[in-house]
Amino acid sequence: MLSKTVLQRATAAPTRLSLTQQQCARAASFWTQVPQGPPDAILGITEAFKKDSHPQKINLGVGAYRDDMGKPYVLPSVRTAEQKIVQENMDKEYAGITGVPDFTKAAAVLAYGKDSAPLKEGRIAITQTISGTGALRIGGAFLQRFYPNAKAIYIPTPSWANHKAVFLDSGLEVKQYKYYNKDTIGLDFDGMLADIKAMPKGSMVLLHACAHNPTGIDPTEEQWKAISDAMKEGGHFPFFDMAYQGFASGDTDKDAFALRYFLKEGHQPCLAQSFAKNMGLYGERVGAFSIVTSSPEEKAKVDSQIKILVRPLYSNPPVHGARIASKILNDPALNKQWLGEVKEMADRIITMRALLKENLEKLGSKRDWSHITSQIGMFAYTGLGKQEMERLAQECSVYATKDGRISVAGITSGNVERLAQSIFKIVG
Ligand SMILES: Cc1ncc(COP(=O)(O)O)c(C=O)c1O
Repeated sequence: MLSKTVLQRATAAPTRLSLTQQQCARAASFWTQVPQGPPDAILGITEAFKKDSHPQKINLGVGAYRDDMGKPYVLPSVRTAEQKIVQENMDKEYAGITGVPDFTKAAAVLAYGKDSAPLKEGRIAITQTISGTGALRIGGAFLQRFYPNAKAIYIPTPSWANHKAVFLDSGLEVKQYKYYNKDTIGLDFDGMLADIKAMPKGSMVLLHACAHNPTGIDPTEEQWKAISDAMKEGGHFPFFDMAYQGFASGDTDKDAFALRYFLKEGHQPCLAQSFAKNMGLYGERVGAFSIVTSSPEEKAKVDSQIKILVRPLYSNPPVHGARIASKILNDPALNKQWLGEVKEMADRIITMRALLKENLEKLGSKRDWSHITSQIGMFAYTGLGKQEMERLAQECSVYATKDGRISVAGITSGNVERLAQSIFKIVG
């Protein structure tokens, strides 16, 4: 039985603090000095889009694929892989520090090609990562710790918004090289090459392997060859970010051209892979980071250091998404099905680009819209300025980032006409 005093304490009314006492208690918080961060651009678009009551509003800010009804899309191959995993009644034990081996082995083959010399010779160190962002972050941390030259990495202008933050947080200095020519809405190839040639010997250079985000502008194969030469001349180190393999052209081999060409030319790049877009595994966070080394002995040393980096960060990566990707990559029938689905997604995007251009021309637009179809991948750089994008949102209920980037994945056969009319209304 509870004693009388204990009962009294338990039933006593809680002590009330006066308002000033509460304010004093709050002022003593450890976090009063924490500054408010700037608002998130994409979140801003989502909120403004939600508030807009226009029945035909269009959201072109999302960085994820949508089907022709504008709905999120789970690949049928992913659904099948998941069912197989459930049927196998697998356990939930930890993966090793570098992840699910069947997944990482297959991820390396997908990127480097089954005939790749460093792969056959056991010279590629690879680890499973928390999607593409995690791959970049582990890569950044590894380079910060072990890259023998200046700890600065050059990224294109512009680049995916998170690159700078990822590398700065990895302890690297971030510099930029020319990439986009706003006059041609195309690649500033001469500027890019001149900047690469002017970099100090042995610099680290981040290259988007395909479907450059945000511009959608990729170098041609001939231009990649010249970039490889310039990189070699400068003794620079290529860091490939491949977040869209297969998603750009619909062909995973074609999209790996730059990476594989660099390998053939004797470069020893490192690589960040993401399976968010090409398998639609966004929230499952499936990725890989790999480094090409010069020998199996060097690979073993690099492997050991990657483990030392990963262990105190998150111990080991999650297994479910990697098991899905592994099933799709290793089961021949499922793999064939997936390659078909990747092509379908890429083709829908390519069709939407063509339809947007066609509709703008039909309306009598005097602008040259050929960049819409020459660009590739999920994003298109329209060439519209900040004020034009603001008017597009305010006057036409069409939402996208202020830099003029639109997510082509958000265009459907149902909204493309209205989108063209909206753009035409703003810029003619
Ligand atoms: C160029 C680029 N790299 C990396 C990523 C990383 O994506 P995730 O971490 O979702 O795989 C993205 C995502 O949009 C991207 O566009």
